[in-house]
Amino acid sequence: MGARASLPIGLLCIAIANIKTLRHGRVAWLPANLVKLPIVTSRANMQSDLVPQPTGTLVVPNVPDGLGEGGSAIRLSLIIPTYNESKNIPTLVAQLDELLAPALGTAYELLVVDDDSPDKTWQVAQDLAAAHPSVRVMRRIGERGLSTAVIRGWQAARGEVLGVMDADLQHPTDVNLKLLQQIDKGADLAVASRHVADGGVSDWSLIRRLLSRGASLLGLILLPGVLGRLSDPMSGYFMFKRAAIAGVKLDPLGYKILIEVVARGAMPWIGEVGYVFRERKEGESKVTWRLYSQYLGHLLKLRWATLPKSRFFRFCVVGASGVIVDMGLLFLLSDPRMLGLGLTRSKIIAGEAAILSNFLFNDAWTFRDVVGIQKGMGPKLRRLLGFNAICLVGLALNVILLNVLFNFAHIERYVANAIAILAVTGWNYVLNSKLNWTALSVSSDARKP
Ligand code: GDD
Ligand code: MN
Repeated sequence: MGARASLPIGLLCIAIANIKTLRHGRVAWLPANLVKLPIVTSRANMQSDLVPQPTGTLVVPNVPDGLGEGGSAIRLSLIIPTYNESKNIPTLVAQLDELLAPALGTAYELLVVDDDSPDKTWQVAQDLAAAHPSVRVMRRIGERGLSTAVIRGWQAARGEVLGVMDADLQHPTDVNLKLLQQIDKGADLAVASRHVADGGVSDWSLIRRLLSRGASLLGLILLPGVLGRLSDPMSGYFMFKRAAIAGVKLDPLGYKILIEVVARGAMPWIGEVGYVFRERKEGESKVTWRLYSQYLGHLLKLRWATLPKSRFFRFCVVGASGVIVDMGLLFLLSDPRMLGLGLTRSKIIAGEAAILSNFLFNDAWTFRDVVGIQKGMGPKLRRLLGFNAICLVGLALNVILLNVLFNFAHIERYVANAIAILAVTGWNYVLNSKLNWTALSVSSDARKP
């Protein structure tokens, strides 16, 4: 058969891979002293100045300790993303100050990140800063969207714990203290959840509940290593230790920033706190249908970015694509409803087509690192012939097995084909990685001492 791994093996590999989600993009060497700290001169200065809008990649700097007034550390930076929330922001800020000042003194900041709202939310928030020195405002121009607004806020934040909550009073403010308690107990991330004890939604229609649960289920299937750790992956109310995400390049799409943070960050301990999602009284929700397709795009993007690097896993993914080629052609050529050619002839053509497509993918992806030291068309052709030779033996085994299963055991042709493919996958992998894409078969120069 071709170098196809079976679909079941591919799925098994995905499951194993998800037990431990690999993380990418961590820029571990980012030196703390290169990180630009916003210079705090005086409160008066802070009140009149908007927080500069960070640009470039979405990486939260590894600031050891944020600086507050008089150089004291800021414990918590709470990001409040806003778009047309001018009617809500005064109440929210008053509630938060009342809650947090007794607990944290001046060691916290409320960072409103407004996307240049037509209702001038940024202006309203800026005016609040006189009476509420904890408030800082970023007016974002030229960039839009909830997720990037939140990350830009974290980038400019000075706290050692970074959080986010909605501005529209749908998130009850007092939960912040419980989240902070979780962090104090040692959690790397604390999430306000609607789906644990004391959690819920106030008055949602059946369709909205179904949509929310359906989105979670879809995420669980695509990214079990991430969504499986969260009872409410859709939550936009959470906080985490800066170190859990510092230096990691974030690249979200749409609304679901929590999934991004968990997928790419390092957060072994996740704590959850129940909360009831309230109804909105002022302003409007910004959720549109487009956000659902962006959510799917985000899941796929993260799935791709966190795919395990293991060779066998990749070999199986490529193999699974080969199974589709093989099965599809077998159907077109041999099925009585299609061309109706003989089974063996059809299988040989289908198998060879799969071998060729698998070769291209394996060469470009699975064994990319080996290919890097065996550049050029000559070595590539050698690898193709080697791969073909090994897989042709596999194909011969496959054809024999298929015939035995179909003609003698009377197993349905596609089931028989799947069994035959599964049986020779191990053969193909072991021989190809030992003989074909091995560094020993590199050009003679590379072997010279
Ligand atoms: N800066 C900025 N830019 N803020 C935005 C944008 C934007 O493009 N879009 C929305 N916001 C702000 C809103 O002003 C509000 O403070 C918050 O983000 C949430 O937006 P809503 O439109 O009110 O969202 P929701 O109520 O449907 O969704 C909330 O609940 C979900 C749980 O089902 C959000 O908290 C989601 O994050 C959460 O996942
Ligand atoms: Mn809302």
